[in-house]
Amino acid sequence: MQEPHNTLDKSQEKIEELRKKNAEALKGGGEQRIASQHKKGKLTARERLSLLLDEGSFQELDRFVVHRSKQFGIDKEKYPGDGVVTGYGAIGGRLVYVFSQDFTVFGGSLSETHAEKICKIMDMAMKNGAPVIGLNDSGGARIQEGVNSLGGYADIFYRNTLASGVIPQISAVMGPCAGGAVYSPAITDFIFMVKKTSYMFVTGPNVVKTVTHENVSAEDLGGATAHSSKSGVAHFACGNEVDCLDRIKKLLSYIPQNCEEGPPLVEYEVRDEKRPGLDNIIPSHPNQPYDMREVIEEITDTHSFLEVHQDFAENIVVGFARLAGKSVGIVGNQPASLAGVLDINSSTKAARFVRFCDCFNIPLLVLVDVPGFLPGTDQEWNGIITNGAKLLYAFSEATVPRITVITRKAYGGAYDVMNSKHIGADLNFAWPSAEIAVMGPKGAAEIIFKKEIAASDNPEAKLEEKVADYSEQFANPYTAAERGFIDEVIMPHETREKLIRGFDMLENKVDKLPRKKHGNMPL
Ligand code: HXC
Repeated sequence: MQEPHNTLDKSQEKIEELRKKNAEALKGGGEQRIASQHKKGKLTARERLSLLLDEGSFQELDRFVVHRSKQFGIDKEKYPGDGVVTGYGAIGGRLVYVFSQDFTVFGGSLSETHAEKICKIMDMAMKNGAPVIGLNDSGGARIQEGVNSLGGYADIFYRNTLASGVIPQISAVMGPCAGGAVYSPAITDFIFMVKKTSYMFVTGPNVVKTVTHENVSAEDLGGATAHSSKSGVAHFACGNEVDCLDRIKKLLSYIPQNCEEGPPLVEYEVRDEKRPGLDNIIPSHPNQPYDMREVIEEITDTHSFLEVHQDFAENIVVGFARLAGKSVGIVGNQPASLAGVLDINSSTKAARFVRFCDCFNIPLLVLVDVPGFLPGTDQEWNGIITNGAKLLYAFSEATVPRITVITRKAYGGAYDVMNSKHIGADLNFAWPSAEIAVMGPKGAAEIIFKKEIAASDNPEAKLEEKVADYSEQFANPYTAAERGFIDEVIMPHETREKLIRGFDMLENKVDKLPRKKHGNMPL
């Protein structure tokens, strides 16, 4: 039986109404504000999502949510979505949850309802075990809403904390992110920033000027360069927004969906895994630098290394790579910067990375060439003791497969800290060039043969003789190998092969920490 005309018209009308509502929502804060966003060199919230997610995969939720506030005449101004686009989609075919703040609507500021939308997708991500990616571009708390907005932020911070270590959380800062708003990205696992168009600070340049009389621009105070090189708050400083979104996708390719899963595998066909180039990397003089990245490049699958925190605490290198198609997290001392010494920043940088890998079942490869901890009042007074302990604690607590390769120096406490056998590493290799000792031969000889050297007719020659003696006895891998602290002294060219076999052997490792509520790591 045919439907009566007026019923058909009615349903067409309703479909047309939805079409209109959708079209209105897609305009955000309107053409003019979109143009202004583009003029600043920024994409809109939706443009960003369409670049980030697999084509056609985005499923938006809460498109028609509007704010509920009444004060200051804001009830007459409502935009569907209320300044944030939320939902789920796929990256490389894998589920992700996303929120993208829309600066064209009330400057992307966070209202109670805006926060509720973000919390909703965070809750879904936790239940369904998939990463959350937040694209931040916001003027902060919605000023017209007062404490409702502050409560909304706290609801997000709370969820960030509960989700930490359960699902990966990634933040991209693509515009302003100021005041308490910075603490949501700060709790997440990785922060990406865009050079020149994003900034993060607890208090902006005006407050800084009033309080400390410093004159500083927003970019200098809290731009991508400042945070990726000085404070270490940002892990990646990207050239532009497209670069930023591409790098997020790349990062996700190394990490699992949640803490119950392993990282994704890339197909790999085993071939000749010898790397003769590694035999010539260590310089003949022990104080000559070399770039640990060259070792990493040789050891890992071609072009698979993604460095994290590249410009911060350059005396340690951390990042993800693949070994025969499997993800590994790499921590390596960097002899090319400050001789690879451990200091406050390099310890905290590496500790946080180790903890991320351990949360998400990513095996750890540790490359060691470390002359010790950095001396000085600056380091002592700023807490090298507590901060160095963070790295020690992070390694000791990690239960993922852990392999160490000592390429050259492993001196003093830094030998213990850098994933030594004693703190639970599974396989410890050393190259023939390894020197495992309490300190460098010269320093050691000067202390223990002080009187003999002073009494000698030729103190310089005596010192040289004693340095040679000490080097022969300790500046090698064999004393440690005799004790079983080193499992095998290996040829540098066979390192990759040994690592592939080692991580294969450790694939089903099960290790449990003693039952506790949680540890009390030295923060
Ligand atoms: C409501 C806001 C807003 C906010 C911006 N807008 N910030 N609306 N609440 N927090 C609106 C503006 O009124 C404007 O609306 C539009 O967004 C764009 O803002 P402009 O100022 O024109 O843009 P621009 O020149 O690019 O400057 C961006 C800005 C500036 C630097 C972010 O807007 C600004 O300083 N906003 C206030 C920042 C702030 O103090 N926030 C509160 C911080 S305290 P129209 O209609 O003209 O498009 C905080 C506490 C969080 O966030 C605590 C959590 C625990």
